[in-house]
Amino acid sequence: MKQHNIVLVGGGSTWTPGILKALTKHLHEFPLKRVVLYDVDEERQEVIGEFAKILFAEEAPEVEFTYTTNKIEAYSDMDFVFCQMRTGGYPMREKDEKIPLGFGVIGQETCGAGGFAYGMRSIRDMIEMVNDVRHYSADAWILNYTNPAAIVALALDRVFPDDKKILNICDQPVNLLRSYGRLINYDYNKFEPTYFGLNHFGWFTHIFDENGNDLAPKIKEMILQGGFRPVDAEQRDQSWLDTYALVEDMVRDFPEYLPNTYLQYYLYPQYKAAKLDSHHTRANEVMEGREKKVFEECRDIVLKGTAKKSQVVHNDAHGDMIVEVAASISNNLRRTYIVIVPNNGIVSNLSNDVMIEVAASLGINGPAPYAVGEIESFYKGLIEGQHAYEKLTVEAYLEGSYTKALQALTLNRTIVDAKKARLVLDALIEANKEYWPELK
Ligand code: G6P
Ligand code: MN
Repeated sequence: MKQHNIVLVGGGSTWTPGILKALTKHLHEFPLKRVVLYDVDEERQEVIGEFAKILFAEEAPEVEFTYTTNKIEAYSDMDFVFCQMRTGGYPMREKDEKIPLGFGVIGQETCGAGGFAYGMRSIRDMIEMVNDVRHYSADAWILNYTNPAAIVALALDRVFPDDKKILNICDQPVNLLRSYGRLINYDYNKFEPTYFGLNHFGWFTHIFDENGNDLAPKIKEMILQGGFRPVDAEQRDQSWLDTYALVEDMVRDFPEYLPNTYLQYYLYPQYKAAKLDSHHTRANEVMEGREKKVFEECRDIVLKGTAKKSQVVHNDAHGDMIVEVAASISNNLRRTYIVIVPNNGIVSNLSNDVMIEVAASLGINGPAPYAVGEIESFYKGLIEGQHAYEKLTVEAYLEGSYTKALQALTLNRTIVDAKKARLVLDALIEANKEYWPELK
């Protein structure tokens, strides 16, 4: 099997230890020659990088490991680029969440006005990353987790339409599959799902088992009877438990399909905004919780000199998915994953340029998505509105257009009112001066 060179962009992320652990777990199907962590934040990078040295020395001493803030070192001679950057870090996520809530509309990492603001920040750095990677490693696969993945995917498709080796992914569908598995006591690896939508905006229509029985009706029934919890509920903060719990409401109101958790921001925008605390949001919860824990533990591991028995990695889905996707591509395994691809007829009554999230077989030629066919009016209407919002966001960025930004936010179901959209937009422009192009 080929030995791979990979770089993790956003090496100083709280998610990095989980990905590194997944890399050491999957060496049998994804052998490694060289692993590089790359980040623009030297301080965060160093903490995670020093932890990683110990992890690799213990779990995979044959792997050459380095960390760097130097682009050339990061991107040269790579087979895979795993990307998970967060422009502006958690302090900007906090603003994305709090500013809209201050106007009474949803403030969330990837949905609504917060997602818009984050998208406008991510696009610039993502374009730069792709240009740099292509300069130093023309053939590398770029697997991207960077959020808001829907907007990032659309922007990269616009700017690099001929680049067939960029794949945008999200772990939420697989988190849901794992959670369904726990709910009905079934091995989620054996599920064969049918899914369609946009990123953080989709539905499972069927969950087939090994024998071709659709388990979705049973899963819905169980959710209606006893509620819904994440597979790793014991490790989750309260806000995530609340998020999963609202799936029950969505299944009751719209019993046809199993919804992605993120749809609640669009289906119940007022109810949800009223539940969120504009003074203490998920960003605060993460900074006080996961971020503190990961960095403390990494420092502690360095002091002790061993990563054995460390708790630093618990969210397996995120780490496992990106490594398994890479293995499936590299070894032409043709496993099924839910990924983000250009529609091109997959959903036959949506336009070709929509970046849809759908189940696909992944092999050496990239994703081969499974056809979905026609979708019904409710879903089509929701998706087309959301796609128009995403497209206008990308165009607002590329053209520096205030009007398009205002149109985008007005179309977003979490806002709707154009006067409110203007207030939120103006406040976000002020907060994002350092990051956004000037909107005229
Ligand atoms: C899921 C989503 C990601 C998102 C993350 C937020 O994994 O798929 O897109 O970034 O949740 O998690 P957090 O714990 O940071 O709120
Ligand atoms: Mn996601």
